Amino acid sequence: MHKHFLCTQPKSTRYILLFSFPILLLFQGCSGFSHLTAVDRQAGTGPGATDCGSCHVDQFREWHGSAHNLAYSDPLFRKATDNYEDESCLACHIPENIRSDELTPRHYSLAEGITCTSCHLDANAMHGPHDSSALITPHPVKADPAFYTSSGLCGVCHEETFSTWEKSVSAHKDNTPLPQCQECHMAKVTRTSTRGTNMFSKLLVSFEDTHEVRSHTIDLATLTNFPGAVRIDTTRAPYNQLQIRITNQLPHNLPGGEYTESSLMLVLLPKHTVNMPLPPSATLLVSDTDNPLQPGGSKRFTLSQDSFGKPLHQGTSYSLQLVLKQTGRATALQLARTTTGKVQ
Ligand code: HEC
Ligand code: HEC
Ligand code: HEC
Ligand code: HEC
Ligand code: HEC
Repeated sequence: MHKHFLCTQPKSTRYILLFSFPILLLFQGCSGFSHLTAVDRQAGTGPGATDCGSCHVDQFREWHGSAHNLAYSDPLFRKATDNYEDESCLACHIPENIRSDELTPRHYSLAEGITCTSCHLDANAMHGPHDSSALITPHPVKADPAFYTSSGLCGVCHEETFSTWEKSVSAHKDNTPLPQCQECHMAKVTRTSTRGTNMFSKLLVSFEDTHEVRSHTIDLATLTNFPGAVRIDTTRAPYNQLQIRITNQLPHNLPGGEYTESSLMLVLLPKHTVNMPLPPSATLLVSDTDNPLQPGGSKRFTLSQDSFGKPLHQGTSYSLQLVLKQTGRATALQLARTTTGKVQ
């Protein structure tokens, strides 16, 4: 990776370089950063995500357009709340502060849904997994690694999914602990907390520690063919049939959402067919969210036709895909894919 030349200088040289910018430093100090923690309930104002994004460039890019960013503007949510009339729905979709004892709706930047300050701003400080290592920190920082790296944070709003996960954890006999939500839903990345956009800020960033952290891209698309999520067993059955068993190996239900309506589809196509995500006769495995596959649960069924509605051919292998389709969403997620043995 390309490294800015400042980052390759020893710290002492960086200090000399830094103090050769006294005017810039003075300017930066005087312009003030108090707006980053200033919330005025009466005026309905507070720090928006773009304010944070000027320094936390990567985190902003990852969060922007994620499901959490869309939690308020989502047309499904707007419709389900009768154009935001139902106030009982707002606390989880535009939360003020998930660290407080009681979740309440925010009064600023509503269109940002679950925004940076929802998860990080509490009592005038930004709480995160680490203490500040920076030369100049424009807002107070408090480290609380236990909260930010564990499922409880997600469980503040994903109540059902969290309690299912907790039950799986206590039922789990193996010595290796089950992963926290973050370990599957937020990919690992190594970086500094901020990124420089000009010479001065690049110099400042060069003082920061690099940490192994997790990406803010929390989207189903990142879970395509997630290893170990589901197990597919196929066995040949007489009379040109295939017997298929799907086992949910996740520590939560499959589909995992409690409010999102999703269906689980099985797509069986001759092996060399060009990938078609959802042909008309795909088999519906689980259609409603009230009856999902529980952790460890499995479902078995026998197929005598492929997803084009054609009878299975003796001596042919098929490609088998498990696909998650959310109601009201155009895209479908491929959860797993395998090739069957030859049909008898
Ligand atoms: C306890 C927190 C909480 C409250 C209160 C809440 N929601 Fe949600 N909502 C969630 C979570 C978490 C999800 C997404 C994940 C899931 O489906 O489990 C969600 C997802 C949704 C979705 C689906 C959006 C999509 O992508 O399909 C709709 C619609 C929705 N909520 C409407 C409502 C309505 C209407 C109310 C009030 C009656 C409400 N919510 C109250 C937490 C909450
Ligand atoms: C002018 C630049 C700047 C702006 C704007 C800014 N921050 Fe920061 N932030 C920093 C620096 C510098 C640190 C300390 C980084 C370090 O020590 O590695 C930091 C640290 C943090 C941390 C702790 C990081 C960790 O590793 O635990 C969080 C969380 C955070 N900021 C959130 C925010 C939020 C939310 C906003 C917007 C309301 C914001 N910041 C605005 C520069 C900025
Ligand atoms: C403040 C409440 C809240 C917190 C905290 C929260 N979520 Fe969500 N989450 C939601 C809501 C609301 C939605 C639905 C947004 C929508 O689609 O309208 C959602 C959506 C999702 C989705 C569905 C994405 C999709 O594309 O359908 C996943 C996955 C998810 N959250 C995982 C997590 C994880 C992992 C954590 C913890 C790191 C977390 N959430 C923390 C409220 C929350
Ligand atoms: C072992 C990895 C793993 C862990 C741990 C995990 N998930 Fe998931 N999660 C997945 C996979 C894979 C999917 C996609 C399949 C599905 O929808 O269930 C998913 C789906 C979801 C969905 C979207 C469901 C839908 O149908 O739209 C939500 C919401 C979610 N997880 C929340 C959580 C929360 C909250 C936790 C922690 C309590 C958590 N997950 C822990 C792997 C994991
Ligand atoms: C749903 C809650 C949630 C939202 C919304 C959120 N974060 Fe985070 N943030 C987390 C979690 C969880 C971690 C810890 C991840 C880890 O283990 O590395 C984290 C870590 C961080 C860190 C320290 C790790 C790093 O990447 O350097 C910074 C800085 C940060 N967030 C800034 C932001 C900013 C800026 C925004 C808005 C653009 C934002 N966060 C939105 C939950 C959230």
